[in-house]
Amino acid sequence: MFEEAQYFAPIAAQDDGSVVVELASSHPGFADPVYRARRNAIAGLAVNHRRGTPIPVAAYTEQEHEIWALVTKELAAKHSRYATAEYLAGTARLGLPEARIPQLEEVSQLLEPLTGFRYLPAAGLVPLRDFYGVLADGYFHSTQYIRHHSVPFYTPEPDIIHEVIGHANALASDRYAALYRLAGAAARRVESVEALEFVSKVFWFTLEFGVMREGAELKAYGAGILSSYGEIEEFRGMDIRPLDIQAMGTTHYDITKYQDVLFQADSLQHLEDVVGGFWDTCDDDSIAKLLAVRA
Ligand SMILES: [Fe+2]
Repeated sequence: MFEEAQYFAPIAAQDDGSVVVELASSHPGFADPVYRARRNAIAGLAVNHRRGTPIPVAAYTEQEHEIWALVTKELAAKHSRYATAEYLAGTARLGLPEARIPQLEEVSQLLEPLTGFRYLPAAGLVPLRDFYGVLADGYFHSTQYIRHHSVPFYTPEPDIIHEVIGHANALASDRYAALYRLAGAAARRVESVEALEFVSKVFWFTLEFGVMREGAELKAYGAGILSSYGEIEEFRGMDIRPLDIQAMGTTHYDITKYQDVLFQADSLQHLEDVVGGFWDTCDDDSIAKLLAVRA
């Protein structure tokens, strides 16, 4: 199992058609029955959704809308310092609501006229071949729940703040959206599990945790950094390495803590040339050669 699987809560479908989200005892919402009931209901929406039909409306509480508003405000201030110009342009273009959680259907309606991307609801972990593969068709799988209100700046799993503030603002950029599509096409093209894992690791170190030189400064474009209130203040102090496909595809990462090894593109063009070029042309053979270099 790839590393991503560690951080999604498992989902169990019951005989009566209902869905139970199995939160770990360390989860901030573990002992909150109201939150857990809402998580189960929201997961059920995704399990029962069929592509091509509108995404069902998730019921959020006022308290949850307030979390969105608080985190949006705090992250926006940090983005003005730490996010790439292209991501900020995407944010301005998309125009997400600031005071309330948008429904995923609404995110799709904002995004589709810009870059053709639409959101799909995900109850939890989506098999990697599906998750990445549908990017080629302009679909992005997204969780729909929000973090527990007791810790507004922390989540042990990717919630709607990560999926929408981190990813949708990037997907509103033509140039980043093109990279997502190339990652999807690469995931579709490769056949071996090892090659798929390699493609997904390059995605992890770029579109999730990528950083980029802009003039004299280091900026972030990865959704994982840009949606994390704590990590965004720390990335400049990490072990910053040059963009290197072989290294990104083989470096181990631990999703449960801040990413301490990051790969820096010299520019957006550099990212497109190196990473876009890799995804555009890679196959099982070329990835097997890269893996053999490490062995
Ligand atoms: Fe993500």
